Amino acid sequence: MIHLIEDLYKNKDLPDAQLKEIIESGEFEQELFEKADGIRQSYYGTDIYIRGLIEFTNYCKNNCYYCGIRRDNRKVKRYRLSKDEILDCCKQGYELGFRTFVLQGGEDGAFSDELICDIVSEIKKIYPDCAVTLSLGEKSHDSYNAYFNAGADRYLLRHETANAEHYRALHPDSMSLENRKKCLWNLKEIGYEVGSGFMVGSPYQTTECLIEDLRFLQELQPDMIGIGPYISHQNTPLCDHKNGDLHLCLRLIAIIRLMFPDALIPATTALGTVDKRGRELGLAAGANVVMPNLSPVNVRKQYELYDNKICVYEGAAQCRGCLENRVESIGYHMVTNIGSKNRVKKT
Ligand code: SAM
Ligand code: FES
Repeated sequence: MIHLIEDLYKNKDLPDAQLKEIIESGEFEQELFEKADGIRQSYYGTDIYIRGLIEFTNYCKNNCYYCGIRRDNRKVKRYRLSKDEILDCCKQGYELGFRTFVLQGGEDGAFSDELICDIVSEIKKIYPDCAVTLSLGEKSHDSYNAYFNAGADRYLLRHETANAEHYRALHPDSMSLENRKKCLWNLKEIGYEVGSGFMVGSPYQTTECLIEDLRFLQELQPDMIGIGPYISHQNTPLCDHKNGDLHLCLRLIAIIRLMFPDALIPATTALGTVDKRGRELGLAAGANVVMPNLSPVNVRKQYELYDNKICVYEGAAQCRGCLENRVESIGYHMVTNIGSKNRVKKT
């Protein structure tokens, strides 16, 4: 196993059979994490980037079988933030040192392209030293283009799973893996810094699915790669399926770091939800981004993608402070610059 870790480190790749071994085996996990942490340090030192997450709407026209804010979940109290409320979140975030704002939401028709462009351009006008990241789901090429021209810098769209059959088991017929992938290629072509990724341990996922995910990421070469454990939500069709495994998720973070040495990889809220120290463990396994929540506290609980989501009662400053303590506790440093990809090795 040790030689497989070494091969993965040297070649940034392994044949499927060997990838399968590393994904499935907890043996030599520590060595895997240390190797990944080492390569991350050679690109990023001890820097951990922060992104201010603004969950601006929980309305969604889609019905993903795993997602707590899916259209058919009638138990969610729906909300959308106004432009002014979003700008208030940015103001508070800027004062706390954030230089990237991530606007994430369900696919909400009330936010027309004009309105999104207006919000993006206003943020860029007030904070020209900041990056704006959008995560609004699947849109047309023209829409993506319009947001980009309005000043959006980055876009997060997880492919969720690269296996078509698995995709079908997680989504209704109105959605397709083909379109998801097309969106990602469009975003790249337009010039966004693109983030993709998948859930770990989602229902019906096999190791072969995970290998397909890694192969798709190799094709796409995204700048950001976000993965996190699947966590069930009581009001979804997949509520009876068990949560993704923390250790499997950590091993995948480490493998992704070794395959994509300069990628921006978040230690996600979902990781912190399945284990109290999940985010610290994620950083130690190769992640280098954290995303404190900047959404107003009165709506946080309503953006419940899965049960028992953490950070729903803390304010922005508290969330940032908590994460800073966690980052410092394991010897890293939270930095407040714009945090783009470091393409050149430092050492
Ligand atoms: N609508 C946008 C989209 O489709 O990309 C952004 C919002 S969506 C809720 C953000 C991400 O949440 C998804 O890409 C998915 O991977 C994750 N997610 C949704 N439900 C989840 C669950 N039950 N457990 C873990 N992650 C989940
Ligand atoms: Fe749309 Fe989850 S189903 S955000």
